[in-house]
Amino acid sequence: MASQTLAPRNYDIAELKRLDVAHHLPAQQDWQLIEDMGGSTIVTHADGCTIIDGEGRRLLDGMAGLWCVNAGYGRNELAEVAARQMRELPFYNTFFKTVTPPTVSLAARIAGLTAGTLPHVFFNTSGSEANDTVLRMVRHYWKLKGEPTRTTIISRWNAYHGSTVAGVSLGGMRFMHEQGDLPIPGVAHVRQPYWFGEGFDQDPAQFAAACAQAIEDKILELGPENVAAFIGEPVQGAGGVIIPHETYWLAVAAICRKYGILLVADEVICGFGRLGQWFGHQHFGFTPDVMAMAKGLSSGYLPISATAVAPHIVEVLKTGGDFVHGFTYSGHPVAAAVAEANIDILAREGLIARTRDDSGPYLVRALATLNDHPLVGETRSLGLIGAVEIVSEPGTNRRFGGGEGMAGGQAGPIVRDACIARGLMVRAIRDTIVMSPPLIITHAEIDQLVATIRAALDASHAALLAL
Ligand SMILES: Cc1ncc(COP(=O)(O)O)c(C=O)c1O
Repeated sequence: MASQTLAPRNYDIAELKRLDVAHHLPAQQDWQLIEDMGGSTIVTHADGCTIIDGEGRRLLDGMAGLWCVNAGYGRNELAEVAARQMRELPFYNTFFKTVTPPTVSLAARIAGLTAGTLPHVFFNTSGSEANDTVLRMVRHYWKLKGEPTRTTIISRWNAYHGSTVAGVSLGGMRFMHEQGDLPIPGVAHVRQPYWFGEGFDQDPAQFAAACAQAIEDKILELGPENVAAFIGEPVQGAGGVIIPHETYWLAVAAICRKYGILLVADEVICGFGRLGQWFGHQHFGFTPDVMAMAKGLSSGYLPISATAVAPHIVEVLKTGGDFVHGFTYSGHPVAAAVAEANIDILAREGLIARTRDDSGPYLVRALATLNDHPLVGETRSLGLIGAVEIVSEPGTNRRFGGGEGMAGGQAGPIVRDACIARGLMVRAIRDTIVMSPPLIITHAEIDQLVATIRAALDASHAALLAL
């Protein structure tokens, strides 16, 4: 069980806000806006599924931090594991033909979770780095295999694979490509399986087939001999919780096999129970050749990520001498020890099975109660990741301010702010309210989450009509 035993410190919140504006540049933010707000909201402590800010406001954390605190906040056990490992060995590297016990143990543990399909694990610190590793690894693999023209990686528009140069390039967010002159060469994007946004008037299965076919079309356009891999999130998270039709991934996997193209699953959000299985690909029934993971691996308690790889790739990479890639903190012993203890918690408390059999289905039913709301176009969820689509006309995918599907973008932030004002932390992605709560969330907290979204929609109605 989560528990908070330490009394929170008394911070000088006004001074912290002043220093925040003066010195701190927050990630993925409009710094002028933060200054105009007088500084970011200072979150001081948390317990279970609740975060508490400097003004003492309690918010139900519908986002598990940033899709990551799967085990919930206040896990003293993880703090103790970190402290013990820091005292014993705070750091050692894997560059010098050396390794630490927690690193080896975690690699073996992750391999076991893949049922032996991906038994080799490379460690990084963030999800973005896990995908940088993917890019270098798969290109190097093809070169060693004697097919050096296989360099292009196919991804989807509106995918999110991180914020490093490779992460943004692999991702399909055009507004991110605009900053930093990206993508790098050798990345091609195809349509996403976003039925509500882009396939609304089509049969969902036919739409999914068309989205998979777009991958085959792109392979043929580029020439299969030039394609290294396809990468995708089992469920796109930051793109708006896009849950593909159940047939999509099997079709994608068949296409990759047909052309001998590596299949990469970015499980940074979907991994570690989010979809009710250890990994999202296990839900959709396909087996990737490479998998990136982060976030839920340590429930966000320390930064750590991993790239798990199939034996046939590692055997080829072993023929190439040093793989000259890796980071100071690859396999960091403290992060690795905490990650393994976190996996112990997820397993011991049955949180994955509970997400699949109990809380996930409960979230589906609870969100469905919003379907009668005039501002709701669709609710969807899988495991403990979900979305509510805000529309200007019930029964359509029309957006406030004009356009359909991917259009809009002004309504979401209004409803999100109304949720936050009512004690619920959720995120707006365009006009989609998304959620990804800790896997320990109770039925009562799910009811609270859904009731708060309803109240926020009601309170926002007039403002949305004015858009
Ligand atoms: C699917 C996916 N891949 C990669 C990343 C990047 O992870 P990080 O922010 O740890 O670099 C994210 C982050 O949200 C993600 O959702």
